Order: sequence, then C-alpha cells, then structure tokens
Amino acid sequence: MRREEVRVLITEQEIRARVAELAARIDADYADAGEILMLGVLRGSYIFMADLSRALSIDRRVDFVALSSYEKDTRQSGVRLIMDSRVPVEGKHLLIVEDILDTGYTLSYLLGLFAARRPASLRSCVLVRKPEQEVEVSADYIGFDIPDEWVVGYGLDFDNRLRALPYIGIVDPEARD
Ligand code: PRP
Repeated sequence: MRREEVRVLITEQEIRARVAELAARIDADYADAGEILMLGVLRGSYIFMADLSRALSIDRRVDFVALSSYEKDTRQSGVRLIMDSRVPVEGKHLLIVEDILDTGYTLSYLLGLFAARRPASLRSCVLVRKPEQEVEVSADYIGFDIPDEWVVGYGLDFDNRLRALPYIGIVDPEARD
C-alpha cells in the first residue's frame, strides 16, 4: 500500500490546548442550560467528540448521526442521513460536533434537519474550517482556520485511513493522484 507524505499542520499539543479552550467557552455559554446534547457526526468527529466531551464540565449527553455524501468533487447537496440520532432532540440544547467545515453542505443540511425538530437551542462546533464555503453557513465554535488543503489525522481521513494520527496534517497533493 502506498504511503502518503503527511506534513504536520497542527500539533497534538496545539489540539489539546484548543480543545480545552473550546470546552471552557462552551461550559461558560451553557452554564444556565442545565444539560446539553452533543451530537457527533460520524465518522470524522469521533476523536474530537471523545476529547471535547471529556473536557467539558457541564452536564452533557452524547449521541451520533452518520451521513453519507456523494464524491467530494460532485458533492453538491447530496448529503444523506444513514443513521439518525437515538435521543429525541425536541427541547434539548443541541450542539452538533463536526470535524471539518469544507463546502458547508453537510453542516447546512444538519442544521436544517435538526432545527425542524425544535430543539431548545441549536449550535455547532467544528474542529477545523476551510477558507470558503460553497453554501452560506457558519459554526458557533471553531477550533482552527486552515488552508484549502486535504487534511488528515485526529479523525480526518484520506480514503478512510490516517484518522488515528494524533496531529492534523496535510497530505502531499502528489501522493493523492
Ligand atoms: C466529511 C467531514 C464532514 C464533511 C464536511 O465527511 O467529516 O462531515 O465532510 O464537508 P462539507 O463541508 O464539504 O460538507 P465525509 O463525507 O468525508 O465522511 P467521514 O466523516 O466519514 O470522513
């Protein structure tokens, strides 16, 4: 199997520090909420979700959804729910946890889907954000702004591999062809 060149973009230490900062902000923002429901988006968010959920102090429950999308280059609005949340979200303070905001189609789809289920509040937290989205959507909490490159590690994949790297890295474009 071919080995891709990966260049470190965000170190493990930087991720750890940023996750702690995000958790402190979320703790403060939801101090009066009672409890939040964290909704991780599979598969890419699984590591971020694990760390963020453990870094929080407020009462929280966790749940997951799984999505599938068409090929990246032809994604358009072809996002489909393949596993729904198990917890009813009506009346809950819902926090969607995503690994990456790229074209924006996924987050836009999720916000529409869950807003219709009448949560008490609806916010989103993304680990990394690319410079420009194709649809107008923004996240409430953003870990890092990153360049328009293919990133891997800390849950992010290249062909469903490299997710378990402890840092976030850029894959050498040459190796992707
Ligand atoms: C990735 C990522 C986000 C989505 C963001 O999912 O995990 O869910 O793309 O991209 P967008 O802003 O362009 O919609 P992917 O379809 O690669 O699946 P995965 O989570 O299983 O890796």
